[in-house]
Amino acid sequence: MKSGYHDIYTRYRENITRGVLKPGDKVPAIRVLAEELKVARKTVETAYAILTGEGYLVSQGARGTRVNPDLTLPARLDAPTEHATGSLPESLMAQRERAGFLRPGIPALDSFPYKKWLLLAGQATRSMRQEEMLNPPVMGWPALRQAIASYLNISRGLSCRAEQVLITSGYSGSLRLILDTLASRNDKVVFEDPGYFMGQQLLKRIVPRLHTVPVDRMGMDTDYLLRHHHDARFAIVTPSHQSPLAVTLSLPRKQQLLDWASQNAAWIIEDDYDGEFHYTRKVLPSLKSLDRHDRVIFMGTFSKTIMPSLRMGYVVMPASTVDAFTDCADIVASGQPVLTQKILTAFLSEGHFFRHLKKMRALYQMRRDWMIAALREVYGDLFFTEQNDGGMHIVAFLAKGSCDREIAHYWQAHQLQVNALSDWYRGSGKRYGLVMGYNNVRTWQEALELLQRPKQQTLDLMR
Ligand SMILES: Cc1ncc(COP(=O)(O)O)c(C=O)c1O
Repeated sequence: MKSGYHDIYTRYRENITRGVLKPGDKVPAIRVLAEELKVARKTVETAYAILTGEGYLVSQGARGTRVNPDLTLPARLDAPTEHATGSLPESLMAQRERAGFLRPGIPALDSFPYKKWLLLAGQATRSMRQEEMLNPPVMGWPALRQAIASYLNISRGLSCRAEQVLITSGYSGSLRLILDTLASRNDKVVFEDPGYFMGQQLLKRIVPRLHTVPVDRMGMDTDYLLRHHHDARFAIVTPSHQSPLAVTLSLPRKQQLLDWASQNAAWIIEDDYDGEFHYTRKVLPSLKSLDRHDRVIFMGTFSKTIMPSLRMGYVVMPASTVDAFTDCADIVASGQPVLTQKILTAFLSEGHFFRHLKKMRALYQMRRDWMIAALREVYGDLFFTEQNDGGMHIVAFLAKGSCDREIAHYWQAHQLQVNALSDWYRGSGKRYGLVMGYNNVRTWQEALELLQRPKQQTLDLMR
């Protein structure tokens, strides 16, 4: 049988992903295989070059070519998504059980383009130059700052230059650096109530004068802010999808907040953690895009669009603050890993990020619909959800009662990593329900099966 380079490539890839060839195994020399298969050397050379580019093989010079000893097989992560859970390989199911289900804010881990990422990772590693092996630039890898600025200008309606983009390790890195640079000890900081649980924990540790502002169906209550905390220096908000209630800050309130900030020389920190995910309308313009007086500090993350373990986020600094941030970062920051920044740069600038987001919007919308329908099917009207336009989690409000902590406790015992909504409140006016992610629910049957797990205990509690 005559082989072309593609046949050779496919045969190797299959044998590697099926575990027939193991990491570290030696593969025949080009000349030997070409003679064996009766093809031109060039044919084998091309197949090996692609396999090497994709990270399946590594060439070790005189020691020959081997299956990449560091290979973690993407094939398992790329397992078919639309099969019933029962048909997934056992080890993957066991991994998923251990990680837990319904955890809010985790992107669909079965749908990330791992092979593309691996390819870019290989290229980035091979192209590392001496100067890139020194300490990373504290403000971020210049090409990544540029790629993020382009993305934000095109997709999120911002108008910023690359010099205003600062690369961080995510939420806590961003917030700490903002406060280190711009806040003094006595500054009052306001946060939403309910508000991002981890954010509250962090702020309680580092901000002596922390206050909260209630959130209703139009987002943060800006009248309350003006009445009670007019003198605040910072307001930390999640305007696209409030965390956790998933409502959008109304336009009049956005304007009120911007006016307040510009009249009082206050700063608004816009936490745009999942603003990319809107399903029924175009992506919303960010608060920052309406900011005529440069009072909004915009924070983004790749935890929701790529994966949380990437630990990569960014801040868009108001132009007037770039020098202050640079001085501060020089002292308190040490930059982010260059290799990761290079891979991410290629992922953004070669268009893979846009394509991935587009795919994920459609997938998440479908998975969200399954979750909402399955909730109704399993629990009838014990829970209800409120209309909102996207995000990465839903809140299943309790139709009556206040035992969301007990319910969450039972659900967690079944590996369902939901949060009790009431735990995210600090003041009065609590609402009760479960905050749950749906992005990793792979089928409608899986949604039903997961929700059935704690059904009896939940019904007993609510009786
Ligand atoms: C409200 C909110 N902000 C920001 C983040 C992002 O955090 P990080 O970038 O550290 O992953 C999250 C993640 O869950 C979040 O829920």
